[in-house]
Amino acid sequence: MRTVAVPQRLSFGTLMVEPAIVLAPMAGVTDTVFRRVIRDLSGCGLIMTEFTSSHGIVANHAKPSAKPRRSPFNYLHFEPDEHPIVAQLFGSDPAVLADAARVVEDLGFDGVDMNFGCPVKKVVKCNGGSGLLRDLPLVERILKAVRSAVSIPFTCKFRTGWDDSSIVVAQMGRLAEDCGLQGVSLHGRTRQQGYAGEADWDRIAELKQAVRIPVVGNGDVFSPEDCVRMFRHTGCDGVMIGRAASTNPWIFRQIQQYLRTGSYQLASERQRYELLMRYYRLLRDDAGKISGSPLGKMKQFATYFTRGMRNGAQLRKQVHRAASPAEVLACVDACFEEHLERAA
Ligand SMILES: Cc1cc2nc3c(=O)[nH]c(=O)nc-3n(C[C@H](O)[C@H](O)[C@H](O)COP(=O)(O)O)c2cc1C
Repeated sequence: MRTVAVPQRLSFGTLMVEPAIVLAPMAGVTDTVFRRVIRDLSGCGLIMTEFTSSHGIVANHAKPSAKPRRSPFNYLHFEPDEHPIVAQLFGSDPAVLADAARVVEDLGFDGVDMNFGCPVKKVVKCNGGSGLLRDLPLVERILKAVRSAVSIPFTCKFRTGWDDSSIVVAQMGRLAEDCGLQGVSLHGRTRQQGYAGEADWDRIAELKQAVRIPVVGNGDVFSPEDCVRMFRHTGCDGVMIGRAASTNPWIFRQIQQYLRTGSYQLASERQRYELLMRYYRLLRDDAGKISGSPLGKMKQFATYFTRGMRNGAQLRKQVHRAASPAEVLACVDACFEEHLERAA
């Protein structure tokens, strides 16, 4: 393991990311409500939207009155306290992506990110997400088209390759740099791997060696110790955290505490309860600004935020049977009341 200092900040061109820790884009998770929960807890330098279809943006932008219920503009909704925030796009048509990036710029985002990592069949079948890793000439056309369409910082996020026999880490990094992107993020798995096995952090180190623009490492950071290990192992400029943030949104704050003091506090049951209630309040107020049903989101986050808690499994079972937001609240209240009384 190399002994490199952990960077305090990084900049994607004019976009300063401080601390150098990024919330990963996660479809179905990182909507405006969740992102504001993360912002409130502090310690995260940059947040990103869920990936958003460039075709959807362009089609709905042309006909705003025809917005469907799951409008792409719900994915792009953000509040002023979310800055700095980057919108992530997916698609495979350079002209459409360029138009969508212009919309993103007009909406006031601090940057735009291009998705070359999504492994989902529906996306890959249309040559989007990680499907593009098999067609680097098309990647180049996309990067050039988007770069010349907007002046906000532009980054991309990719996997290591389609499979083990077609690793494109250095080629993708150099393409991004040559096309004028301000940074790259790498999830150290191939498309074929899905989420199996371990993220290969050596590939992140390889990318860092291949380019001069900032490199953000991603994959399997589940604790502050992992985060420091990733910085040291790869020499990366920033670390991006996905799944761990959805069950432990305190991880960003814990990382800062760990860097300062060498130790960190786990969230108490009261903090978990208060966080869940805060999430529910925001959800109630802003249900119209997210995609998906509020009841579904309540259940989803009751599950996430009680992971690792005593009797959490019992709560999750009850919550899943609930038929209304009021029933979910009643289950959560009853479960935490019992716990908090016991802890008092
Ligand atoms: C539920 C879920 C949704 C995701 N959606 C996106 C997405 O919209 N765009 C993207 O680039 N990656 C997406 N990812 C991948 C994550 O951003 C990240 O690369 C991956 O989870 C590895 O990081 P981790 O080990 O910290 O979770 C998603 C991952 C999960 C678990």
